[in-house]
Amino acid sequence: MMNGKIFDLEAVAYDEETGELVLLDQTLLPNETKFLRLKTQKSIWEAIFLLQVRGAPAIGIAAAYGIYLAVKDSVAGSFEKFSEEFVAAKEYLNSARPTAVNLSWALNRMQECMELHKEKSIAEIKNVLLKEANDIKEEDIWVCKTIGEFGLSLLEPNIGILTHCNAGTLATGKYGTALSPIYIGNEQGYNFKVFADETRPLLQGARLTAYELYHAGVDVTLICDNMASIVMKKGWIQAVFVGCDRVAANGDTANKIGTSGVAILAKRYGIPFYVCAPTSTIDLNCETGEDIHIEERNPLEVTTQWYEKPMALEGVKVFNPSFDVTDHDLITAIITEYGIAKAPYDQSLKEIFSKKTKKS
Ligand code: MRU
Repeated sequence: MMNGKIFDLEAVAYDEETGELVLLDQTLLPNETKFLRLKTQKSIWEAIFLLQVRGAPAIGIAAAYGIYLAVKDSVAGSFEKFSEEFVAAKEYLNSARPTAVNLSWALNRMQECMELHKEKSIAEIKNVLLKEANDIKEEDIWVCKTIGEFGLSLLEPNIGILTHCNAGTLATGKYGTALSPIYIGNEQGYNFKVFADETRPLLQGARLTAYELYHAGVDVTLICDNMASIVMKKGWIQAVFVGCDRVAANGDTANKIGTSGVAILAKRYGIPFYVCAPTSTIDLNCETGEDIHIEERNPLEVTTQWYEKPMALEGVKVFNPSFDVTDHDLITAIITEYGIAKAPYDQSLKEIFSKKTKKS
């Protein structure tokens, strides 16, 4: 792929002509660029569960198209019947992954849209549902760009930035969240030096972040997760930028497993730790990180998945949580599309939402 062309690669798209959800299969990157063309609820559930589409905003967008596709060919003769089918499909899709709130956020938004138009014919409701899914994707592009601009306002040129997992264009409608300030800065000649944690066990940093930054012409260096401390101690890192899957009302933030360790290291070395969070990822109904459901995944992801031979004795016990919670006191700021929230987060996050309500 040519430098700069990375934004042409859409993680989630809808093909109106064929009525298919088109997903870039992220489990195959960086070795293969293959698009999945999906129509059924089951195949879309599996794509989310298997991380063929992943990253909180991209999961939300895929789910929005997924629920539309689930009811697109419904022959329900009444709104009540249509709504019943919608709710059953919604519950099914929502069960694919538990931690990223964008999944339920997008599905709830689609349901609200359906209910708002209940007086219309079923055919018209289907049309507004497709429009709503398109809007969710379009808005995400604006959200990511705006987060990038706010994020960049906190940075000086020529600094080192560390990131964990993948919160880039592949995880969103476009631009990413944590990588958005890096992309915008890169266009403006900021000359950032980015360190990407490989992010065990599914290697989103190695396979996806290093891939997309490299293709965008960003100076990126891949490190193993256990190397974050050495690059910080050497003075190579001046800021940490990460994405998130769910932010609680008090600012505690769930993100890919290992994020919390990076935040603790950043505090030790006096490095600001920034979380980039679309408001769709902030869950004010969740009081603290204690209330966030952490997904646990198949042990084979740790022992076998990326190796030619198993790298652990068969039968050995494995703990494979997919996310951890970074305590709010380790977070320097939470960057949203409505501004930058700082401690105390229980107040500043509410202010972010009141700005959102005023604008909409
Ligand atoms: O398991 P994944 O790959 O879906 O986890 C992704 C992350 O943890 C991202 O950092 C988060 O979803 C933010 S993406 C903008």
